[in-house]
Amino acid sequence: MNRLSSQLLAWYHTQKRILPWRDHPDPYAVWVSEIMLQQTRVDTVIPYFEKWMQLFPTVKALASAHEQDVLNAWEGLGYYSRARNLHKAAKVVAEKFNGELPRDLEDLRSLPGIGRYTVGAIASMAFGMDEATLDGNLRRVFSRLFDVDEFADSPLGEKILWDLAAKNLPKGQAGDYNQALMDLGATICLPKNPRCLLCPLMSLCKSRENGTQELRPVLKPKKAVPSYVHAAAVIVERGRVLLSQRPAEGLLGGMWEFPNARIDGDPAKALVKSLKAATQIQVKKKEALQVVEHAYSHFKVTVHPFKCEKVSIPKNKNLKWVKLSELEEYPMGKVDRQIARQIK
Ligand code: ADE
Repeated sequence: MNRLSSQLLAWYHTQKRILPWRDHPDPYAVWVSEIMLQQTRVDTVIPYFEKWMQLFPTVKALASAHEQDVLNAWEGLGYYSRARNLHKAAKVVAEKFNGELPRDLEDLRSLPGIGRYTVGAIASMAFGMDEATLDGNLRRVFSRLFDVDEFADSPLGEKILWDLAAKNLPKGQAGDYNQALMDLGATICLPKNPRCLLCPLMSLCKSRENGTQELRPVLKPKKAVPSYVHAAAVIVERGRVLLSQRPAEGLLGGMWEFPNARIDGDPAKALVKSLKAATQIQVKKKEALQVVEHAYSHFKVTVHPFKCEKVSIPKNKNLKWVKLSELEEYPMGKVDRQIARQIK
């Protein structure tokens, strides 16, 4: 074992965070947590993880669940394709591997939603295999430790960083090593104002020596994200409201929303015409509800909801009249859930 990993592991053994999936005996729990933790902070994930393991305690339980219940349990975590892929993968594991997550790396990698990062994480943490992994935190840690000046998200930068992760891995302790690097990235080697004086690897860190911590990792400048404006119709009739289900794939796939359309100009004026053009739904506009804003990863949206009266609704399998008292059972993104809560 080299100095880097011995100092890192010594630190981890006294400072590691107590997390519900950590040292969990069930590989399924490790898998669920790793999918939830992609692009999502530990504090946000913990309550979702605990609820999920109660609702779907085994791969087979998840495999036989309805997609609606799966999306409902994921509601609020975002990036819903993660939930749909986890569900699809659970069906494959239930059928092809008798409900046991496979130990073979190629088999693991073939499952929906499992990429190189997740294979490394599951293999090392759940199966004790000597596999490296690399996520955003680890990319930053290795970029700084070795003062890597390649673009971290370029093919060459990726290769350099994966090689560093593998080269420093202590045999037989990959699970702790990977998790120690994650904790270091989350608590010490922060994107801004890294807490170098508390770092167990300070004496080995090249960018600390060169004063380049804030310049690592080297990333391409982010593109500006576009902003869109939508108007949404909240059409209530005899205790029911009209919802529309989004296509199975893509953004918020399979989730429910209030019929809406992208608009230009004054929302109160644009709603009726734009909604008809986009959905063939015809309404009479009543009062405005509270405007809702949300930032997705690639764009921002401002939604102007209006209470409406039905004029004409097309026959369309994606539309459903839902009891107001049952709105919580329909999985929705944050924007539509905020609108739903205004009309309860
Ligand atoms: N981020 C992703 N996976 C993690 C893990 N197992 N522990 C802590 N943070 C993580």
